[in-house]
Amino acid sequence: LRETEMLLRSPICCILGHVDAGKTKLLDCIRCSNIQEGEAGGITQQIGATYFPIENIKARTMVLKADATIKVPGLLVIDTPGHEAFANLRSRGSSLCDVAVLVVDIMHGLEPQTLESLNLLRSRNVDFIVALNKVDRLYGWKKCPNAPIFNALKQQPDFVKTEFNTRVSQIITQFMEQGINTALYYKNKSLSDTFSIVPTSAISGEGLPDLLLLLVQRAHKTMQERLTYTDQVQCTVLEVKVIEGLGTTIDVVLVNGILHEGDQIVVCGLQGPIVTNIRALLTPHPMKELRVKGSYQHHKEIKAAQGVKISAQGLEHTIAGTALCVVRNSDDIEALKEAIMHD
Ligand code: GTP
Ligand code: MG
Ligand code: NA
Repeated sequence: LRETEMLLRSPICCILGHVDAGKTKLLDCIRCSNIQEGEAGGITQQIGATYFPIENIKARTMVLKADATIKVPGLLVIDTPGHEAFANLRSRGSSLCDVAVLVVDIMHGLEPQTLESLNLLRSRNVDFIVALNKVDRLYGWKKCPNAPIFNALKQQPDFVKTEFNTRVSQIITQFMEQGINTALYYKNKSLSDTFSIVPTSAISGEGLPDLLLLLVQRAHKTMQERLTYTDQVQCTVLEVKVIEGLGTTIDVVLVNGILHEGDQIVVCGLQGPIVTNIRALLTPHPMKELRVKGSYQHHKEIKAAQGVKISAQGLEHTIAGTALCVVRNSDDIEALKEAIMHD
C-alpha cells in the first residue's frame, strides 16, 4: 500500500464561481493569508496556484477524525477570477484540474458566472463540490471558528436554522433547473449522481475542515487512475513575468511528470517555438501563492502536481496558456517544436 501511495501525484483542484463569491477568501482562510485584500478592487485578475502539503490538510481536518482516509501527497489549488471578463482564465483553470470547488454565495444563489463555470465543469466532465459560502451572513449567525459545519449548525438558534434550510432548498432547486442534483454533503447518499454541498464561511472558517476532507477524499476515490504518477510531463504556462534578479520567468502548472534543473524545454513563442534550458526551478513556499511576489524555494527537481516558476533564457515571448514540453532525447526537438505550435 505504501508504495502505491507514493505513486499518486497531488490532485489539482480549481476554484470557480461568480465574482465575489469568496473564492480567494476561502483560500486565504485555509492558508492563513490575506491575499484578497491586496487585490486591486478586491477582484482576482489572474490564475493563482497554491500547494498544500498533506500534513497541513491533515491538521485542518483533524477535528473530523478521518485523516486515515487521506492518501495523496498534497493538493494543488488553482484560484480563478469570477469577473465575467476572464472567461478564458476560468476555461484554462478548469482544463487543468482533477476536481473543482464551485463557490456559491448563499445570499445570492446561482449567478451568471456560476452557470458559466458549471457548464465548463460539465463539458469537461470534472467532478466538483459546491461550497455554499458566506453562511456567517445569515442574520443572527453565531460564529464557531473553524468548526465542522454540522457542529456549527447545531449551535445556531432556530430562526437561523430556518433561514439556512430555506436558502439551501432554493439553491438545490436552482441547480435542479440546470439539470444538476445536489444535496448537503452529510445527507448525500448517492455520490455517483448527486453533487455535494458544503456550507462554509471564509471569514470564520466554519465548514472548511469538511470542504478539505471531502476534496481529498473525492480526488482519491474517483481518480486513482488519473492521479497515477507518470514520467510523461504535462505542463501548462500560466504567465510570463519579469522578476528582479531572475529576468523573464514563466509560471507554470506541472500537472504530471517531473521537471529537473537543466532540462531542455520547448515552449510556444509569438515568433515560433522557443527551445531553452531550465536555469532555475522555483516554487513559492508551501501554502503561499505562486502569483504573489515573495521568496522562492530552489529545487533540483519537482514532481507533479505543483505550481512552478521557471527561469531560463529567451522566455520573453512565451504565450501564456500554452503547453511546455521537455526534450528527453535530442532527436525529438523538431517533432516537439511542431507539436507545441499546433497545440
Ligand atoms: P473574484 O476573484 O474577484 O471573482 O472574487 P472572489 O470569489 O475571490 O471573492 P473574494 O474572496 O474576493 O471575496 C469577495 C468579498 O466577499 C470580500 O469582501 C470578502 O471579504 C467577502 N467574503 C468572502 N467570503 C466571505 C464569507 O464567507 N463571509 C463574509 N461575510 N464575507 C465573505
Ligand atoms: Mg478572487
Ligand atoms: Na473579489
